Amino acid sequence: MKTIDISIKIGYCQPDELSEKEQHLVQTAIMATEHSYSPYSHFAVGAALLLENGNEVMGANQENAAYPSGLCAERSAIFAAQSQWPDQAITTLAIAARTGGGLVREPIVPCGACRQVILEIEARYKRPVRILLHGTEGVYVIDTIKDLLPLQFTGDSMQ
Ligand code: THU
Repeated sequence: MKTIDISIKIGYCQPDELSEKEQHLVQTAIMATEHSYSPYSHFAVGAALLLENGNEVMGANQENAAYPSGLCAERSAIFAAQSQWPDQAITTLAIAARTGGGLVREPIVPCGACRQVILEIEARYKRPVRILLHGTEGVYVIDTIKDLLPLQFTGDSMQ
């Protein structure tokens, strides 16, 4: 059997190595964790998007007693941005999370459903979404969702 080797790239840095705009976006994601409604998991996630026009859009996870009715922070932010500024590409997404003990040490990564939605954004605007994952020890920097979803199902897959 042959194999297909796929290489992915994940950067790791301290916040002060990011551009000022990106540092601000990470701070917005941290602030967004305060808007989380997570009485069931007690896991507060914040997301912040930077749009092509320079606007930032926040999202936070919103839970529900009927668990699947809730929504992750990333999709809350993306769907809000898409509803308000459908013509604006999303250039960057920052994510932060906190537990009862404070902000997470190791960055969290988007769940599978959010990865698929971010992929759709890249396809829609024909440009990559840069992803900044905050942890107190450092920030993971990912240039495209394709690095988190190496084999992709898109509209093109149905051609
Ligand atoms: N959650 C997010 O908001 N984003 C992620 O990337 C992972 C998980 C939320 C969903 C749920 O409200 C809580 O975190 C626990 O899974």
